[in-house]
Amino acid sequence: MPSTGSWRRTDSEVDEHGPPAPAVQAVLDRVPCGLLRTDRKGVILRANETCCRWLGYERSELIGRGMYELLTIGGRIFHQTHIAPMLHMQSSVAEVKLEMRHREGQAVPVVLNVQHFPGPQAFSELAFFVARDRDLYERELLLARRHLESVVAEEKLRRAEAKDRALLAEQMVGIVSHDLRNPLQTIQMGAGVLLHGEHTEQQALILGRIVRAGERARRLISELLDFTQARLGHGISVHVQSLDLHALVRDVLEELRQAFPERALVHEPLGAGPCAADGERIAQLVGNLVGNAMTYGDPEAPVTVRTQVGPEGFRVAVHNSGAAIPAEVQARMFEPLVRGTTADSATRSIGLGLFIVREIAKAHGGQVTVESATGRGTTFTASIPSSTV
Ligand SMILES: Nc1ncnc2c1ncn2[C@@H]1O[C@H](COP(=O)(O)OP(=O)(O)OP(=O)(O)O)[C@@H](O)[C@H]1O
Ligand SMILES: [Mg+2]
Repeated sequence: MPSTGSWRRTDSEVDEHGPPAPAVQAVLDRVPCGLLRTDRKGVILRANETCCRWLGYERSELIGRGMYELLTIGGRIFHQTHIAPMLHMQSSVAEVKLEMRHREGQAVPVVLNVQHFPGPQAFSELAFFVARDRDLYERELLLARRHLESVVAEEKLRRAEAKDRALLAEQMVGIVSHDLRNPLQTIQMGAGVLLHGEHTEQQALILGRIVRAGERARRLISELLDFTQARLGHGISVHVQSLDLHALVRDVLEELRQAFPERALVHEPLGAGPCAADGERIAQLVGNLVGNAMTYGDPEAPVTVRTQVGPEGFRVAVHNSGAAIPAEVQARMFEPLVRGTTADSATRSIGLGLFIVREIAKAHGGQVTVESATGRGTTFTASIPSSTV
């Protein structure tokens, strides 16, 4: 082939890199990758059939042509800025992406390996395969990544907004619950005074209802206040004092018996009772656990409260018979506003009881555990270590 430019070679050079033996050529033509050999100036000396097919040339058209002519403008720039300097330094490059140009002009994305053989007859072997799918895949991957990044950013913003809203709602709950206490107290006191005065049977019935509803509302409000204190502050505050655990729980159970007159409530104190704790909070803890045992346990079986003080701390365990608590309820029931049932009832619960029980135990440096199994019933145990109380 005549030499027409700097990429063309002299005939004497062609001879040393003439066509391989026909059997070898046949093998090279069949490999599923484009193969090219160029001289030190980038003039093509050999090309296999796959290369010709992919780029739309006859072999005879490629031999003697400058390698650069087979690249798009972008491919040439990339070759000059990246591939040529790398070849200069390390004699080979592997798996670089490059755009070659089909005879009819369209770009052909390829992945290229080059090995340079220095010396007086320096030459380079090029092997490439078409990477159209890979190119497409990479573009899609990039688009997907951008999309994902924007979704994550949106989600972050949405969460921050939701958090702000939740915080505001919790603050509102705190303020409203706090401010409801006084008018409620007035209503309760008024009803209490009227109940002690003269009234008809009908009026007594209504006053009794007002007192009971007021008591329910009072409990709800104080739980909501504890909830906001635990969530927005640094947990529930406790004032630890010396007290007798058995005596405290005995008194609490006495009150609870009046709230559940038809139910059996058994106290099992073990050993001596002196310990240190916040008496009101422990009473609240016992009240919540017994309330739950009465509400969710077998109504025919007694509820048992076991209290025990030891050198390492004290324990209060509340047991009820009945069906086991399902695992999915157990997993979440200590979270605030989680109820095991969606059933609506007159004494609709809000799912704060166990959250507050856990916060009270935590404020004492302790914890609450639950064991619930078919046939053995359910036991909630609050364990408070003595070191921290
Ligand atoms: N002893 C128990 N036996 C069976 N299920 C229980 C028991 N104690 C609690 N649960 C389940 O755990 C859920 C959460 O209890 P929690 O005391 O926190 O809320 P609640 O009783 O629904 O409402 P609240 O106590 O605020 O009035 C209950 O709704 C119930 O499904
Ligand atoms: Mg409860």
